[in-house]
Amino acid sequence: PAARFTLDSAFAVGSVNPRLYGSFVEHMGRCVYTGIYEPGHPAADAEGLRQDVLELVRELGVTTVRYPGGNFVSGYRWEDSVGPREERPARLDLAWKSTETNEFGLGEFMDFCGKTGMEPMMAVNLGTRGVEDAVRLLEYSNHPGGTELSELRAAHGDKEPYGIRMWCLGNEMDGPWQTGHKTPEEYGRLAAETARAMRQVDPGLELVACGSSSSSMPTFASWEATVLQATYDLVDYVSLHAYYEEIDGDRDSFLASAVDMEHFIESVVATCDHVRARLKAKKHINLSFDEWNVWYQKRPNPHAVEEWQQAPRLLEDVYTVTDAVVFGSLLIALLRHADRVTSASLAQLVNVIAPIMTEPGGPAWRQTTFYPFAQASAYGRGTVLRVEVDSPTYATARFGDVPLLHATAVTDDENGDITVFAVNRSQTDALPLEIDLRGVDAGVVVEHLVLADGDPEATNTADRTDRVTPHAATGTTLTEGVLHAELEPLSWNMIRLT
Ligand code: AHR
Repeated sequence: PAARFTLDSAFAVGSVNPRLYGSFVEHMGRCVYTGIYEPGHPAADAEGLRQDVLELVRELGVTTVRYPGGNFVSGYRWEDSVGPREERPARLDLAWKSTETNEFGLGEFMDFCGKTGMEPMMAVNLGTRGVEDAVRLLEYSNHPGGTELSELRAAHGDKEPYGIRMWCLGNEMDGPWQTGHKTPEEYGRLAAETARAMRQVDPGLELVACGSSSSSMPTFASWEATVLQATYDLVDYVSLHAYYEEIDGDRDSFLASAVDMEHFIESVVATCDHVRARLKAKKHINLSFDEWNVWYQKRPNPHAVEEWQQAPRLLEDVYTVTDAVVFGSLLIALLRHADRVTSASLAQLVNVIAPIMTEPGGPAWRQTTFYPFAQASAYGRGTVLRVEVDSPTYATARFGDVPLLHATAVTDDENGDITVFAVNRSQTDALPLEIDLRGVDAGVVVEHLVLADGDPEATNTADRTDRVTPHAATGTTLTEGVLHAELEPLSWNMIRLT
């Protein structure tokens, strides 16, 4: 049987905040060093930024970029990373047992943002540091001049303030692995004090409080409630982090990962609104899904890594077509909640669980997951329409019966064009799709692009960078207001209508 849904512009979920297409650069593994920054590489510019990588970042359509961590930020000393390079100290990075040379720092990061048109989303260290240091970093970054730290920035070559608007108040402070891990009461108090002081410098900042590092944490939901009770008036967002992987060969459950992600989002929305009701507050707290991806955490690192190396090979997951389909489904989950998820960061951007890979001195290329992200960022802008799917289901061990179709639709606010993003979770069968377009003004199929492959394990590698690319579907028609398509087994699809 076919899967079906109806589109009607009268039923909107909400506007897509461009920040939904954010990513994340952490000082970790080879994300920075030999990822975005490699002086001496043939493609490096005068500042050491790899132009081949920057081009791919632009093509990917990344809007915001979270920095400098991640777990790294909980030991971050920003002042080590500014000023003349030869005077910057090398330090132990406790989070990843690596050596941080600080050759690439805050100024270089801002240069990277400027050259790619990305908005910076800066994190402050609430692990080993606190209020005073956060305010000092803010003064260095954003104050126009006439003070010690703003003049120091100018002396370092950046006269104009950076104007960083979004700030994360620490990272994963609920996790026992985090340097400076805290109870929700301790963190809530520190986050509130830090937020209050930062707002004394600039009331217009947008601040993100740490939520749980995953929905499986024992403190999940009570952490959010306690932290928000302490910070409600002072922050704009609470963060969510989630990573998915295939466990014990259970691909059917893996393909349904977005069921878990949507449940997670809805649970955090409910928690935010519970605190709102308790405090009789007017404003809503929005969600910053500032780490999400497929990540094979249970697989051992295939590279021998000695401790305290600079830029070792960490988390260099190579993504298959199957991973890209799950990844696309996670994007669909974010879009389906665009009313409350108004910021998100794909973790991470280059080499470390990333859509872009590089070899030192060698090429840069697109992983399979590059394509769903680039397509969604290019065409998933405007207003998300409500999609109620009527779909055949399949059985999963983790989530029970799950619809084979996972889908969302976005309408362009300027011209009314519609883009449908859809995943067929069946590993074996094509899925006929019918979309009733009775409530939207679209009569022509512009294109139907598919990411699927006869080999669901196919990947892109340095030797064969274009083994997997999207292809055009055949047989997609639109007649008398009904779209008919056939979704290939295990596929990610983008169908554009005008
Ligand atoms: O993205 C990799 C790591 O995952 C981040 O440093 C941390 O915040 C999370 O646990």
